Amino acid sequence: MKEFWNERYGAEEYAYGKEPNVYFKEKISPLKPGRILLPAEGEGRNAVYAAKLGWDVYAYDISEEGKNKAKRLAEENGVHVNYLVGTLDELDLNAHSFDCIALIYAHLPRKMRKDQHKKLQELLKPGGILIVEVFSEEHLKFNSKNPLVGGPKDAEFLFQKDDLVEDFDLCEMLYLDQEVVSLKEGKFHIGEGSVIRCLARKKQ
Ligand SMILES: C[S@@+](CC[C@H](N)C(=O)[O-])C[C@H]1O[C@@H](n2cnc3c(N)ncnc32)[C@H](O)[C@@H]1O
Repeated sequence: MKEFWNERYGAEEYAYGKEPNVYFKEKISPLKPGRILLPAEGEGRNAVYAAKLGWDVYAYDISEEGKNKAKRLAEENGVHVNYLVGTLDELDLNAHSFDCIALIYAHLPRKMRKDQHKKLQELLKPGGILIVEVFSEEHLKFNSKNPLVGGPKDAEFLFQKDDLVEDFDLCEMLYLDQEVVSLKEGKFHIGEGSVIRCLARKKQ
C-alpha cells in the first residue's frame, strides 16, 4: 500500500493536481480559520489551500513522497503545513483539539476505517466541523467503464451514506448526499464519478 503511493507521488507532476478538491474548497472557505486536520492528505493540495486561508494545518499520510511533495507545494505558496508521516494510531494527537477535520478521498478497508473514524471524531472539538468527500459503492459502475476516473475497485474500500452516519455518531449531519460529479483532478481523477459528500458538526 505504502509502496504504491510512494511510487505514484514519486513522479514530478501532482497526481491529483495542485488545486484543492472542489467540495472541500466550497465548505472550508466560509469558515473562521482555526486548527484543521487532514488525514490521508497525499501531496497536500487541500492542506496548502487551508493554510493560505489562515488555518493552522495538520496533515498526515503513510507516504513520505506525499510529504515531500506537500512540503514543496507549501513552499511554493509561502505557507506552512505540519505534515506527519504515519497512520492515525502512530501519531500523538490530542482529543478535542481540532476545529475541523476533512477526509478527502481517504479510503481504508471498512473495518479499519470504522475504528479510525471513531478516533477522528474524538479529536474534533465540540461544535467542530467535519468535511468528507469519498467515492460511493456506485462508483464501481463508473471506474469499470472509465479507468481514468480512478478510485478503489473493491467495494470494501467504498462508502454508502449510512456508513458515515454510523461512524460519525457524535456528529449532526448538516448535509449528506450521493452525487454524480465530473472530476478534473490531476491525472488520476478524470471523468464522471459517484461520490458521497458530507458536512457535519460535532454535537456539544
Ligand atoms: C486518493 S489519495 C487522496 C490524497 C488527498 N487526500 C487528496 O485528496 O489529494 C489516498 C491517500 O490515502 C493514503 N493512505 C492510505 N492508507 C492510509 C493510512 N492507513 N493512513 C493514512 N493515509 C493513508 C495514501 O497514501 C494516499 O495519499
